[in-house]
Amino acid sequence: MITIDKDTKMVVLTGAGVSAESGLKTFRDSDGLWENHPVTEVATPQAYQRDPAMVWRFYKERWKQARQAQPNPAHKALARLEDWLGDNFKLITQNVDGLHSRAGNKNVIEMHGSLENGLCNSCGKRSPMDSIDLEPEIPPCPNCGSGLRPDIVWFGEMPYRMQEIDRLLQSCDVFMVVGTSGVVFPAAGFVMTAAYLGAKTLAVNLEAGEMPHFVDEFHQGKAGELLPTLVDAWIQQ
Ligand code: APR
Ligand code: ZN
Repeated sequence: MITIDKDTKMVVLTGAGVSAESGLKTFRDSDGLWENHPVTEVATPQAYQRDPAMVWRFYKERWKQARQAQPNPAHKALARLEDWLGDNFKLITQNVDGLHSRAGNKNVIEMHGSLENGLCNSCGKRSPMDSIDLEPEIPPCPNCGSGLRPDIVWFGEMPYRMQEIDRLLQSCDVFMVVGTSGVVFPAAGFVMTAAYLGAKTLAVNLEAGEMPHFVDEFHQGKAGELLPTLVDAWIQQ
């Protein structure tokens, strides 16, 4: 068993599996579609160029769905872990649903962006969805009036805050990955990078098949059931 105490520098990477128990669909369900769309139809810059109104309709819907969802016991366990470890804890998420922050996590890196903002193609300003007029097919930037895009990192685009993530992978003692299929890079490579830079690695996932063999400790099952037990055991030891 990997030991974790208050001095452990811990980095956690989460994926869609951590929000599954909040009722949000993961990306790679058996039909290979995301909410009835092939990802290339909605989650690429080309899709936005081709049909921005359709892409906006899709992400407005995802945003409404995320706002209605509630953080589940997995999110709450990670918030308790941060309360306990303080600055030694960092959370990197591929999720765009905002549920980690709503559960109380503060050190969150949303590497694939966020449903909660629009991003201006012209002036580069981010605007909270609440402050945007969502009636037009392509909502205008409140700052300059140009067309906004969802503040989402699409396939073929560079994830946010990669230099910071790189430093975290180099400096952490323990790297934990939760609820991700590990097929989308660069996030899929983080656990291997952390491992060869010397971190102990652990994983929590519903399916075992996708877990690399070099993960030191693997817990198979639902994040909302396993994480609260793991975290409480670390805090109480
Ligand atoms: N608890 C733990 N793991 C779960 C649960 C659960 N309740 N439910 C599902 N899982 C696991 C699945 O077994 C799968 O391995 O979560 C993983 C979800 O994988 P994906 O759907 O591929 O999601 P993710 O890895 O986050 O996708 C990465 O792909 O489409 C892009 O940008 C998008 O951020 C996303 C990226
Ligand atoms: Zn603008």
